[in-house]
Amino acid sequence: MTLNCSKTGKIYSELVREYEAKTRKSRELFEKARKVLPGGVTYKIRDFHPYPPYIIKGENEFVVDVDGNQYIDYWMGHGALILGHSNKAIVEMIKSQAELGTHYGYEHPLAIKWAETIRRNYPPMELIRFTNSGTEANIYALRLARAATGRKKIAKIQGGWHGSYNGLHVNVHPPFTGKPESPGIPEEFSNYTISVRLNDTDDLRRKLLENKDDLAALIMEPVLGAGGGISVTKEFVEEARELCDRIGCILVFDEVITGFRISLSGGYGFFGVEPDLTVMGKIIGGGLPAGAFGGKEEIMKLLDHRENEEHVFQGGTFSGNPLTASAGIATLRYLEGHRDIYDKLSYMFDYAKKRVDEIAQEYKQPIHLTGAPGILGFHFTLKEPKNAEEVFSLRYCNELYPLINLYLRNKGVLYVSETVMHLLPSIHHTIDELEKVLNGIEYIFHSLM
Ligand SMILES: Cc1ncc(COP(=O)(O)O)c(C=O)c1O
Repeated sequence: MTLNCSKTGKIYSELVREYEAKTRKSRELFEKARKVLPGGVTYKIRDFHPYPPYIIKGENEFVVDVDGNQYIDYWMGHGALILGHSNKAIVEMIKSQAELGTHYGYEHPLAIKWAETIRRNYPPMELIRFTNSGTEANIYALRLARAATGRKKIAKIQGGWHGSYNGLHVNVHPPFTGKPESPGIPEEFSNYTISVRLNDTDDLRRKLLENKDDLAALIMEPVLGAGGGISVTKEFVEEARELCDRIGCILVFDEVITGFRISLSGGYGFFGVEPDLTVMGKIIGGGLPAGAFGGKEEIMKLLDHRENEEHVFQGGTFSGNPLTASAGIATLRYLEGHRDIYDKLSYMFDYAKKRVDEIAQEYKQPIHLTGAPGILGFHFTLKEPKNAEEVFSLRYCNELYPLINLYLRNKGVLYVSETVMHLLPSIHHTIDELEKVLNGIEYIFHSLM
C-alpha cells in the first residue's frame, strides 16, 4: 500500500468544482478585487486557489465567508488571535477606549501599563518600545544591535521570516539563493546578511566565527513559523547564546509568533535561554496592529534621547496608540489569569503528535508533527524535518499540501497556507475540531492508495 501521488490532479479538479459551487459570491468579489487590488488580495499569503474565500465575520474559532460558509479557522489572524475572533472582553475594551479616543498622539498611561504587563511576563525585555507591526519592530531591533556593536552584519536562520525588511527578506523560501526575494530590493542589501541552517550547530559555529568581527546580531525565531513550524533544539539555541556571548554579537529572539503563544513567556520561557533583544507582535496587540521590541537596559538606553544626543531613532504616528494598548493589555491580562491555556495547547500538541503517528502507521506513509504548544506543523516528508530546507527537500508528494488544504476548506476548515501546513489554534479550538483535520488527512491518504 503506497500513496499514489499521480492521482492528486484528478481529485484536486473535483474539489475545485465543489469549492466553486459553494463560493459563488467570493468568486464575484475576487473579480472585483482584481480591478482594485493587485492579485485581488491585500497580502499574497491570503490568496487561495482558485480564489480566496472573502470573510465577513469571525467569532471564537470560526470565520464565515460572504457565501455563508462557516470554517474552523486555524489561521486566527496570522496567529494574533489566541483568544479567538471577536473576544467579548477585548471588544468591550476596544469600544470603551474608542469612546475616549483612538489615538492621542501624546503620551498616555496605557502604554506604560502595556509595557509593564509584557515585562512582567517576559523579564528580559527590561525596556520596551512599541511599533505597529512585527516587521517594523525587527527593523528597529537590528538598527539598535548595529548601533550597540558598531558592526554591520546580521545572521539569520534559513527559512526565517521576520517581515519584508530589505536585509532580512533573503533566504526565506527555497531555493535559498542568498539573494533578495523581491524585485526592488537592491542586491547590496543582502551583502550584510548571513544565513544559517536551523539546528545545525556546526553551520552556526562556522558562520558566526567566520564573521565574528563584523556580526552585530543573530536573529532567530524560537519556532520557525513561515518556515514550517520547526522548533529550535535546546542544543542549538544554547550554542547560539554561547557563541553570541563569545563574539559579542547580540542575540535577538523574534517572538512575533511564539510570544505569549508557546508559553506565557514565549520561547525564552520555553527553552530557558535569555536573548539580549526580543521582538514581539501579533498576540500583544489583542487583534489590533502591533509590534514591540525590547531588551537589556544597556542596549535599549541607546534610544534614550534624554541621555544621548546621538540616540537611535524609533517612532511612528501610531506607535503605542491607546486603542491597540487597551486590546493588548486585556489580552495579556487574560492570559496571565488563565495559565491553564498553555496546558491545553500543550495537550493538543501531544494529542496531534500521537494521532499523526497512528495515521502514519496505519497507512505506512510517513507524516511528522513539528512545532510547540500552539503551533502545529504537519509534514508529509520522509523524515522529520529539522530545518526549513528539509521541510521542502524531504517531501514525497508536494501536491498533498494544496490538496489537503482544499479538501479541508470544502469541509469547513481554513488555514494558511496551501504550500506549508501549520495550524495556530486558539483557546477555543477543541480536540474534536482537530480530529476534523486529522480525518481529512486520513481521507486524502485513503483516496490516494
Ligand atoms: C516571526 C515573525 N516575525 C515578524 C513578522 C512580521 O510581522 P508583521 O506581519 O506584523 O509585520 C512575522 C509575520 O508573520 C513573523 O511571523
